[in-house]
Amino acid sequence: MRCLENGIFAKTTVKPLSSVFDLSNEKKVVSMLVNAGEWFTVSGLRRTGKTTLVRSVANSFNVIPIYVNLWDIPAENISLDSCFELITNSVRKVAENRGLRKVLKIVDKISFFGVSIDIKVRSQISLTDAFRELCSKGRVVLIIDEVQELLRYSGAFKYLAALHDELAPSLSVVFLGSIASLRNVLERPESGPLYGRLSEEIVLKPFDEITSRRLLKAGFEECNVSIDDEIIEEASLRLGGFAGWLTHFGRICVLQHLRGEKIRLEKVLQHLEKEVILTIYGEIARALTERKKVTSYLRVLRYAAEMGEVSVSAASKLLGKAPSTAITYLKHLVNRGLLKKDNESYRIADPLVRRAVLRSEFEKEVKVRIV
Ligand SMILES: Nc1ncnc2c1ncn2[C@@H]1O[C@H](COP(=O)(O)OP(=O)(O)OP(=O)(O)O)[C@@H](O)[C@H]1O
Ligand SMILES: [Mg+2]
Repeated sequence: MRCLENGIFAKTTVKPLSSVFDLSNEKKVVSMLVNAGEWFTVSGLRRTGKTTLVRSVANSFNVIPIYVNLWDIPAENISLDSCFELITNSVRKVAENRGLRKVLKIVDKISFFGVSIDIKVRSQISLTDAFRELCSKGRVVLIIDEVQELLRYSGAFKYLAALHDELAPSLSVVFLGSIASLRNVLERPESGPLYGRLSEEIVLKPFDEITSRRLLKAGFEECNVSIDDEIIEEASLRLGGFAGWLTHFGRICVLQHLRGEKIRLEKVLQHLEKEVILTIYGEIARALTERKKVTSYLRVLRYAAEMGEVSVSAASKLLGKAPSTAITYLKHLVNRGLLKKDNESYRIADPLVRRAVLRSEFEKEVKVRIV
């Protein structure tokens, strides 16, 4: 069905711009920044549509997009070398698709695994050569997704800063991250090389309730599925305005309709929860990887889910730690998009994450996924 292939409810993160619902201002800004060869960040909670916005805009005009998703590297294998290797592979793929033989020849010589430091340094230089060669063919946009995974490696940012100085504005780099503000983090001392090289930050937020309803209505209309207004209203309330959940909900309804089933809200929500629960546990695990005292983080989340919110003093009492320590825990959870600060209290930002945290298997399922 076409509407599920490239329409509003389609799962893909590269869509025709008309299927990227709302966000007209963000589309304009991304397109303007990319065209100007700027380097910039896009931040926001998970499933607010960061990847879809940037990839869809970059694919809508005449540039060479290169997409690198650091989550393609399993958490246990992530290292500076594996990041460079991933970028190299993405460049290789683009060169293959476009038949760019000169680029392929350069890329073939590059190797980061199991080689001496000298060869790694030479490989970095060759990677820059490959980008330079690509830039001679047209404007290049490198999209680096899940950049929070890279923050530990200052070497990556030094490399990127040098790349900036050599190839911007022919090369534009967009950094995407599911953290509160990527730009704030990228300007910290350990990732300092990019300081002064980044222009504005785009922050995506969940849709408000009215926009969520409009998205669902437009998606169902596109798929020729008529659905009760009540279901649309209730789903807009329950899915917290997250584009990822709204479109996933839409897909399930459309598929049920195609099978001739009657669409029942509770059943669809249960189905959605079942399909996404393990992904959510995996995301929480990844946000807590390399943290000491994982159990304490999980207890704070559990408390916030049960009580609806958690304050600094409540977290401090719960953990038996000083308020300053409790703040460190809360800040990390906010930074990784799991909690949202609301005046003086912290809430779980995403209603489906909250439901996942409330389940009895929560702690066990997260812990088995932490590497
Ligand atoms: N504005 C939109 N219109 C239509 N579909 C959208 C929109 N934004 C996101 N989607 C859909 O929602 C899903 C999640 O979007 P996307 O992966 O871009 O979010 P994200 O913010 O990058 O999430 P994550 O932080 O998990 O990477 C995708 O299936 C995408 O097709
Ligand atoms: Mg994304």
